Amino acid sequence: MHLVKLLFFVLVSCSRDVLSQYYYTHFNTLVLPILKDAETSLHSVSWLPRGDKLIDLDAPFTWRDCVVRNPPMVACGLEEGCRFPLRCDRTLCKEAHSYINPSCPSLNITAKYGCNICAVTPVNPVSKSCKLSQLTTDLVIFYGTDGRNIAVLSGQTFGVELVVSCAPSSLLISLPKGVDGVAAFSWSALAFPRQVDKPDVANKFVLCLPSSSKTPGVTFLGDGPFYFTSFPNLDLRSILSYTPMVRKHKTSLGYHIRINRISIRGISIPIPSIKSASVRLSTVTPYTKLRSDIYKAFVSSFSMATTNIPRLKSVQPFSLCLKSSAVGSVEKGFRVPTIDLEMESGKKWTIYGDNSMKRVGNGTACLAFLDGGLKMKDAIVIGTFQMENNFLFLDLENQKLGFSSSLLARGTSCGSFNFTAIVE
Ligand SMILES: *[C@@H]1O[C@H](CO)[C@@H](O)[C@H](O)[C@H]1NC(C)=O
Ligand SMILES: *[C@@H]1O[C@H](CO)[C@@H](O)[C@H](O)[C@H]1NC(C)=O
Ligand SMILES: *[C@@H]1O[C@H](CO)[C@@H](O)[C@H](O)[C@H]1NC(C)=O
Repeated sequence: MHLVKLLFFVLVSCSRDVLSQYYYTHFNTLVLPILKDAETSLHSVSWLPRGDKLIDLDAPFTWRDCVVRNPPMVACGLEEGCRFPLRCDRTLCKEAHSYINPSCPSLNITAKYGCNICAVTPVNPVSKSCKLSQLTTDLVIFYGTDGRNIAVLSGQTFGVELVVSCAPSSLLISLPKGVDGVAAFSWSALAFPRQVDKPDVANKFVLCLPSSSKTPGVTFLGDGPFYFTSFPNLDLRSILSYTPMVRKHKTSLGYHIRINRISIRGISIPIPSIKSASVRLSTVTPYTKLRSDIYKAFVSSFSMATTNIPRLKSVQPFSLCLKSSAVGSVEKGFRVPTIDLEMESGKKWTIYGDNSMKRVGNGTACLAFLDGGLKMKDAIVIGTFQMENNFLFLDLENQKLGFSSSLLARGTSCGSFNFTAIVE
């Protein structure tokens, strides 16, 4: 992790004299590393020049720990980021106001500032608390990629200006150390991928979450191609299956898909309502949550498919734990039955042992799915443990999700992008 940061800082200082001379017209895809926090298992995007941001697929806008200088405006130094308050009549302010969160403080108290500011209420997706603040701008440095290496884009020495919200430091409580805010990756026009104003960067992004805190994963913004070091000539787009990904209504933020059935070792689990179940992807949910009725049928089927493996005392928060030595560890993870999510398109997202069984120590491995209760808004919320080392291509333009199933099963991983910079 430190190595990656170091490399990036070297690049940033380097960019001022050497790299900025080069013009990479063929780089229409941007790239940033994704880091996993060892303590919380949360994933953040490495955001330069300042702190990392927690990845949130449901946030209406990006926010960071900062204080805006209220009117009269004073220009700030570049080293602080250029934090000019955004006026209320700006399109992006109106967009932010279409996502009012009713459980947050009223924006009403900012009325005394008139239209000089754009009041918003940033939310911490882990603690669920929110604070009153306002929209401003910040700088972020992106790297271009030809799919294999990275390069600093020309004319970007200080970074690209994005609209973000400030937030008081107290909103950071319960986020990983070193994380100073939240990066929105939602359908919102204020989301991080959608604000990149290079005209040739397509409205699509890749999430490839690492399973280890030692090796960074990767997010790409744009069309690709995408290559990992293990297979230098395999464009990862060629291994993807697709399924429709819908925006539920005009102001919904998260990514929803539908599934036809769940099966374990090829046998369909009897869940009558599964086709109408709403399925959402979430990067702030560590383990996939299933509505109680689905969870019960799921665990019972998995249990029946593994009767030959010794049980061990269950370890919180999981309910079904097995002796890991009896399952054996093979290259594709545990030798447990595969779980298939058959998507609306008919294509299967296969979950192997690495994404289904969590090693909890003492020779125990637990089925890493949780009971979300009966009242879940979405019947299934796919969490990060199940997404790690899966290549997910969220195509907002064509409203479809590309998925690879486990990259480990193909002999590669999300930690296999080559972050070496090239200088021609
Ligand atoms: C602001 O709050 C006050 C008192 O709570 C209320 O009377 C007023 O109508 C509110 N204004 C708006 C624009 O909501
Ligand atoms: C990473 O990229 C550099 C520059 O193209 C190359 O020299 C190096 O061999 C690559 N590393 C791996 C592991 O492929
Ligand atoms: C392993 O088992 C021992 C004895 O049951 C227990 O004291 C210890 O806390 C366990 N360790 C972990 C990491 O669960």
